[in-house]
Amino acid sequence: MSTSERPAGSTEEQAASSGPHPLDEAAVENAVQQALQAFEAAADLEELKEARLAHTGEKAPIVLANRQIKDLDKDQKKEAGKLLGAARGRVQKALSARTDVLEAEHAERMLIEEAVDVTAAPRRKPLGARHPLSVLQEEVSDVFIGMGWEIAEGPEVESEWFNFDALNFDPDHPAREMQDTFFVEPKSSHLVLRTHTSPVQIRALLGRELPVYVLCPGKTFRTDELDATHTPVFHQFEGLAVDKGLTMADLKGTLEHFARQMFGPEAAIRLRPSYFPFTEPSAELDVWDVNAKGGPRWVEWGGCGMVNPDVLRAAGVDPQEHTGFAFGMGVERTLMFRNGVTDMRDMIEGDVRFSQQFGMEV
Ligand code: PHE
Repeated sequence: MSTSERPAGSTEEQAASSGPHPLDEAAVENAVQQALQAFEAAADLEELKEARLAHTGEKAPIVLANRQIKDLDKDQKKEAGKLLGAARGRVQKALSARTDVLEAEHAERMLIEEAVDVTAAPRRKPLGARHPLSVLQEEVSDVFIGMGWEIAEGPEVESEWFNFDALNFDPDHPAREMQDTFFVEPKSSHLVLRTHTSPVQIRALLGRELPVYVLCPGKTFRTDELDATHTPVFHQFEGLAVDKGLTMADLKGTLEHFARQMFGPEAAIRLRPSYFPFTEPSAELDVWDVNAKGGPRWVEWGGCGMVNPDVLRAAGVDPQEHTGFAFGMGVERTLMFRNGVTDMRDMIEGDVRFSQQFGMEV
């Protein structure tokens, strides 16, 4: 309550010190009426608190009057006590009645304001989907992990030595050009964006104890123009096994199992003689695609072969004691013929509608 609304019976000077005379019945009644009106006028608990402090607090007229009783005669004391006791009783009663009313109102309002409509439709965030290339790479990894292989990694910016030299590419071997390499400036850095995942073969052999059974899925780069069947950034997965006594039969058995896991129990594979500097003998790998649109057919899937002894030597492995096989396939290519994707650009554009066709699998 502001000073201009000071309760009646208290002039400016009196208010802070004395209050109405304890036997001034009219002034006490006036103070009670002021209090009752103020309580009634309080619209909420906050306002009621202010009214309470003004009319029952230390400086309230009735309280101040009450304090003066001690200075009165014995008879007057009794009378004043009765008068003020009754007055304070009425004020307290009015206060608690008003408190009950306002608390009930408050509770009612909370029930309405904080009500939760459990039937309201939730706001849905559009869910994304994992990219089919990532899902496929994990699927491939799982097949090999299931055979006890490990996942290996290597850098995408690779030294020329790992990408070419250690893999038995001669300095002026045409294969180096065949790979359409992105060289990193300056040329003297001898860094390239890896043109295949095969450099991880060398890294795996240098970094691990024999025997080595690793699969490396990852990004690879070649200076191709983007079109329906080419993209300068693509993915491969590389397999490498080096152990005592491994032969071409182990390579073929592994690839056969892999093909069946990926394409179903009727899948078959075929090896055609080919050439890679890092394998000898080398082969192109075809898979019998039973689900192909125009009926079953052979599709080219990747390259493979027995690890060239020169490569083993470059990685510090004695080819007299250990032999190995390796293979490498394109992930985009696999997705294309396995899932009937006809345009590679769909895989890079990042349109979630493309990814969603492959499901939301995690
Ligand atoms: N690195 C070869 C390529 O990119 C594939 C390959 C890997 C061939 C391993 C043989 C052995 O074409």
